[in-house]
Amino acid sequence: MLQQGKSPLLFEIFYECKTTKARAGRMALVHHHVNTPVFMPVGTQGTLKGLLPQQLEQLDCQIILGNTYHLGTRPGINILEKAGGLHKFMNWKRALLTDSGGFQMVSLLELAKITEEGVKFKSPYNESDCMLTPEHSIQIQNIIGADIMMQLDDVVKTTTTGPRVEEAMHRTIRWLDRCLKAHQRLNEQSIFPIVQGGLDSKLRSECANQLIKREVNGYAVGGLSGGESKNDFWKMVHLTTNILPKNKPRYLMGVGFATDLIICSALGIDMFDCVFPTRTARFGCALVRTGQLNLRQIQYRKDMRPIDESCECSTCKIHTRAYLHHIVTVETVACHLLSVHNIAFQMKLMKDIRQSIQEQRFPEFIQQYMLDLFPNKE
Ligand code: GUN
Ligand code: ZN
Repeated sequence: MLQQGKSPLLFEIFYECKTTKARAGRMALVHHHVNTPVFMPVGTQGTLKGLLPQQLEQLDCQIILGNTYHLGTRPGINILEKAGGLHKFMNWKRALLTDSGGFQMVSLLELAKITEEGVKFKSPYNESDCMLTPEHSIQIQNIIGADIMMQLDDVVKTTTTGPRVEEAMHRTIRWLDRCLKAHQRLNEQSIFPIVQGGLDSKLRSECANQLIKREVNGYAVGGLSGGESKNDFWKMVHLTTNILPKNKPRYLMGVGFATDLIICSALGIDMFDCVFPTRTARFGCALVRTGQLNLRQIQYRKDMRPIDESCECSTCKIHTRAYLHHIVTVETVACHLLSVHNIAFQMKLMKDIRQSIQEQRFPEFIQQYMLDLFPNKE
């Protein structure tokens, strides 16, 4: 563990882009220092699908994400407490962030019902009724012991309109105050509030303006990247980062496509997470500058090049596209090899973003990236 005064999070901005709102900096967390803007791979069950903690370290990954809902049901808080927290349980020594659980239940399980008290859901294991309250979410997250915990929020589908969006926004603020009150480990863990408000500028602004009155170490932007237009998406991010304080980290939840990472870094976001790189690896897809290679396709059968000649990852150093094509439908090892490459791709992209901000050439970087991604387009 790193020694640092009382605050579990110290954020420093080293460089600011003169053209965009991008910044490059560092978050000093209790378990590790994290360079920003950062992409955080998702390890839902306390393991990243397809990768070991050791491999993540080798890939230069400084922070990963875990899920309260999944970990709270299995292995459960008793086992996590006995293990001394998730870091020790999974042997991950670097920084960790946990999501609060509600979003996963509402969006993935459709077993959940929101009340003022919390999120009510049927246990997927034994059909019994469970209730995840803001207090309970924080209690579980205190036991997990992540460097950053998320508040329990009331999330509606991005495309929802009408009074439900406003209700969810106000409830999210009330739940934040309950989370802050329940937090027991102020010197070791930070809670991030989550800006909600759908695609409504007025509600988003109101939410952000309410949240910044609370004393916290960073903020998240939630409820986006769920099928809305890019225009609405960027408008909401832009509007929100204009309100959030400049000297605290901003985390955009559930975003991980290369284009979004670049544009939203330009809009002043410092942290991102998404299951996309590891999920797409499981479908046989490798991320490259020009998009994705679907290695199941027959065109790779005799292709003796690596996925990407310029990639430094162990998969690209050793294996050809032809070999990956050969094993991709039969072997889970292909999923491991592609996950290694895809996480290496995300880490390299974020490093390039940070470096170009540092060297005051981020606008040129964006332009070149888009030219590579959309060649031959006027
Ligand atoms: N993951 C992606 N979006 C969200 C969100 O709005 N809230 C939470 N808690 N997690 C998310
Ligand atoms: Zn590679």
